[in-house]
Amino acid sequence: MHAIGIPGFWFSHTFVLLALVVVGLSAETQEPSLGRYIMYLTGQHNVVPEPFLVANITHVALAFMRSEAFNDVDPSEWPLFTTVSEARSKFAAGTKIMVAIGGWGNTDGFSQAAKSEESRELFAKNVGKMIKVTGADGVDIDWEYPGGNGEDYKTVPNSEKAWEIEAYPKLLANIRKVIGPSRLLSAAVPGLPRDMLAFTPTTVPLITAQVDFLNIMTYDLFNRRDNITKHHTGLKISLEAINAYLECGLPATKANLGLAYYVKWYKTAPGMDCSEKPVGCKTALMEDPKTGGDLGQAGAFSWHDPVPAELATSFALALEKGVYDEADGGHYFWDKEEERFWTWDTPDAIKMKFPGIVEKRGLGGVFAWGLGEDGLEWQHLKATNDEMEKLNVKSRREYRLGKLAGGWKQGERRPGGPGGKIEERDEL
Ligand SMILES: *[C@@H]1O[C@H](CO)[C@@H](O)[C@H](O)[C@H]1NC(C)=O
Ligand SMILES: *[C@@H]1O[C@H](CO)[C@@H](O)[C@H](O)[C@H]1NC(C)=O
Repeated sequence: MHAIGIPGFWFSHTFVLLALVVVGLSAETQEPSLGRYIMYLTGQHNVVPEPFLVANITHVALAFMRSEAFNDVDPSEWPLFTTVSEARSKFAAGTKIMVAIGGWGNTDGFSQAAKSEESRELFAKNVGKMIKVTGADGVDIDWEYPGGNGEDYKTVPNSEKAWEIEAYPKLLANIRKVIGPSRLLSAAVPGLPRDMLAFTPTTVPLITAQVDFLNIMTYDLFNRRDNITKHHTGLKISLEAINAYLECGLPATKANLGLAYYVKWYKTAPGMDCSEKPVGCKTALMEDPKTGGDLGQAGAFSWHDPVPAELATSFALALEKGVYDEADGGHYFWDKEEERFWTWDTPDAIKMKFPGIVEKRGLGGVFAWGLGEDGLEWQHLKATNDEMEKLNVKSRREYRLGKLAGGWKQGERRPGGPGGKIEERDEL
């Protein structure tokens, strides 16, 4: 108002009234907020289906750019398996194209970055530079994981990384400060409580204040550090992971559920009969207790990849005889002959997660690892498309009803939803 240069009570009063009318109008015409629908596009499977199948994807995260690239004083190159503009050309106009930094095993660059205010500033400045150079809409920080339990957890004990717990929200804050509110900042975060070292009621609000959303990795929830069979992306453990973040103070609208477009298997303990209780049965030793090395007793492959020859018989049997575990929510098969446990989501198992988790908790959206991994039949993508469309139809309808009834607050997603409150604790 000062800039207009016409002082006086009457004018400012009118101006305020006008402003209120304008705000009111724009709120009236505002669209309902639809679900976030995010795909990781990976260097391993840089495959994108025909445009109509990806028409409603809202964000794509290109995985990965290495974290250490951002610690150089003046980096001139930003190595990535594709370019932002190349990726952008394969999706609908308006799809946000982000660069995912880090990934499993790539933690050193983050540790170095987080150490001091100076190193954080340098990292953040370079993130800003990279965004400018590549034209990305933002970054997704995939530090797996701040505080430890990464690939190197046997060689670098978590105690040596305890300082990262406090430094992690600071690093995010430094990045936000450089990129501003108009660019996106998100993070991929662990789905297993044992890996949530840096995600506590103290830190989550600090993290939440900086990020647009968190991608909660509700897959690989069984890995080679386990010793009892379970579903790697089961409905119940996925919901538990989401609940853990909500309980730490993450608003549901900033939480995205992770979907896995790949299959996992692992060996059960030699001679162990798991037929009575296939879920919850003892597994073989899968990780070297000293080095943390892979003992070759577990593996994964995407729907895109040919089934490895030595697994073909067992997997064919799994596809034929696999069942859905109604109690814990997950598709599985125990191959008695090969003492092998298979765990994966069918398209139907993915669909169950929408009413079972996304709607139940009023989440902001979903993401999948990863888009190309579901080629070339795209069955899991199609299932996700269907469910996102259902959610969005509902959201639009509730928006219209809400508008007629003068009901709900603008900007609130799915007014009927629980909005992050957890009322059904005993269900777990
Ligand atoms: C199995 O793993 C749990 C932690 O996931 C651990 O506490 C337990 O000692 C392990 N049991 C055996 C027999 O290795
Ligand atoms: C994308 O959204 C539109 C509008 O809601 C819908 O008609 C269409 O079926 C959706 N496409 C896919 C592939 O889900």
